[in-house]
Amino acid sequence: MKKKVLFVCLGNICRSPSAEAVFRGFVEAKGEGSDFIIDSCGTSGWHAGEPADGRMQQHAIKRNYKLTSISRPFDEASDFDNFDMVVAMDQSNLSALKAMARNEQDLSKLFLMTDFSTSFDYDHVPDPYYGGSKGFELVLDLLEDASEGLYKELQK
Ligand code: 4NP
Repeated sequence: MKKKVLFVCLGNICRSPSAEAVFRGFVEAKGEGSDFIIDSCGTSGWHAGEPADGRMQQHAIKRNYKLTSISRPFDEASDFDNFDMVVAMDQSNLSALKAMARNEQDLSKLFLMTDFSTSFDYDHVPDPYYGGSKGFELVLDLLEDASEGLYKELQK
């Protein structure tokens, strides 16, 4: 059975498309890309249909991550059923997802990305949208670090 992971942020144009690309890069580097289904979405549909934020794309490509996903909102009717893990970038995303959970099983699929950090001590992936370059670099640093922890969690 493939392992199915959905990354969630607010707009699905900065953090979660990056999480999708970074985690995909991580498992592909291990030669395990075909063992996973990896996707991302937003708790809002504000940017639905749009590609990732150009600034986020620029920072990501410097580390060889190509952000290809198109923004979409979380689908209350199917996303909890279609994924094993639903991984939020911050507490606000997590709260919005909890409110959409239909039952205990849905709730059991919810995680916070920074819970998988191995060397950073952040309790969320900060929203880079209104800030400068450092914010985008921090997003990538946190995602690369947490991808390793998330991968290990999925091996259990
Ligand atoms: P993301 O960043 O949730 O990481 O995609 C944001 C994107 C857009 C907005 C906020 C955060 N916005 O306010 O439009």
